[in-house]
Amino acid sequence: MSSYHSRISPSEAEAIWTCAAQHGFLNPDSRSLIVHDLNRLKARIQILQTAFPANTLHAIAIKANPLVEVLKFCVQNGSGLEAASIEEVHLALAADCHPQRIVFDSPAKTLDEIRFCLEKGIHLNVNGFSELQRIADMYDDDVHRSNVGIRINPEISAGAIGQTSVGSIGSKFGVSINQQRSQIIDAFGQFEWFNGLHVHVGSQGVTLDQLCTALQQIEGLRQEIVAKTNRNISFVDIGGGLPAIYDSNASPPSPEEYADRIKAEHPDLVRHSQLITEFGRCVHAGCGVAFSKIEYVKQNSSDRVEATIHLGADFLLRPVYRSTEWKHEFLLLDAKGKLKTPNQSKTTLNGPLCFGGDVIARDIQIGAPEPDDWLVIRDCGAYTTSMWSRHCNRGIPGVAGLIDGQMQWLRQQETPEDLVRYWSNNHNG
Ligand SMILES: Cc1ncc(COP(=O)(O)O)c(C=O)c1O
Repeated sequence: MSSYHSRISPSEAEAIWTCAAQHGFLNPDSRSLIVHDLNRLKARIQILQTAFPANTLHAIAIKANPLVEVLKFCVQNGSGLEAASIEEVHLALAADCHPQRIVFDSPAKTLDEIRFCLEKGIHLNVNGFSELQRIADMYDDDVHRSNVGIRINPEISAGAIGQTSVGSIGSKFGVSINQQRSQIIDAFGQFEWFNGLHVHVGSQGVTLDQLCTALQQIEGLRQEIVAKTNRNISFVDIGGGLPAIYDSNASPPSPEEYADRIKAEHPDLVRHSQLITEFGRCVHAGCGVAFSKIEYVKQNSSDRVEATIHLGADFLLRPVYRSTEWKHEFLLLDAKGKLKTPNQSKTTLNGPLCFGGDVIARDIQIGAPEPDDWLVIRDCGAYTTSMWSRHCNRGIPGVAGLIDGQMQWLRQQETPEDLVRYWSNNHNG
């Protein structure tokens, strides 16, 4: 069984809290702290590198966790980066990622953004033919070195989560593998630099079979392009979408299983094309743990304990707004950082924001909360800090990295002054 998805265990969470308290990352005034386990992150990147063919470019999705220190760590450990916006391209450059290892996927690239990326030699995946034409109008074979792929909608069945399922009929992404097939093939006959196929079918809620069905569609298309245009497709970008674990009972497919299927089912593909992956969630989610102080506890009815903490919809945007689809598991530590034992008492966790829906969990059994206890939110290294909401304007908590038993700041807690600056006309200076 793969160790890839191993999570930060309750006893590890306890040890991380103690380390943070001993070294001043948590103090009596702290509200929340997020810790990213960098050893775990490194191990995951190594597993990806070993599982997939050696020349695969693992362009980790920046949107999952855009902290520059985390991105740098990924790059130093051999990965590339996938950018969903020009701002993320700049984050990748700030993390010292080689431009040819940056994959720029925005569906709304402007002329300036395309020009900038061509000048740098950044890999571009286009979302449609008009974008391809923009690139064709600008591409100078003597100067530019960017590789360009096209996002294909493989039109497979949708995954379990509608809003993050993006590879079925009607998706706003890519060109239709069925309706636009001949146009796709013709385009590959025209431009030498147009040399990649890209597919991404969803984030979480997608099965291994669905990921493999999508790739099967892409492989069929690749073979047809090769046969009809007599040229090779240099890159096949399989996107992200490998699920992460949020629930002790889940057993998502491992990268090894995914890679083994690709190698077994498509030997021709891996022989002739370089693979690119764009995993985000399955890389980062399990590396992150958040601690938030129980500020108040109240009991408005005999069977209902409510605890108010410092992280709500600002941090867990999807779990609050789409609570049937996105969930986390929680633990409770006492004021000294010792795990409390779950008992019969049921707790509702209220976030700090001023709307009634800001509840991150209802009636869960984590032990009886008391003020100054600490709530532990598991598996929150992806799409949490990166989706921080400004509603009510609470500052983003400090994020620390833990490596070889040492803690260091990856991003310090935002202060009220930071927020005043953020909303001011002169926020840049
Ligand atoms: C184009 C693209 N690539 C990669 C990803 C990362 O997906 P995940 O974090 O589920 O691996 C996303 C997520 O939305 C995406 O849109």
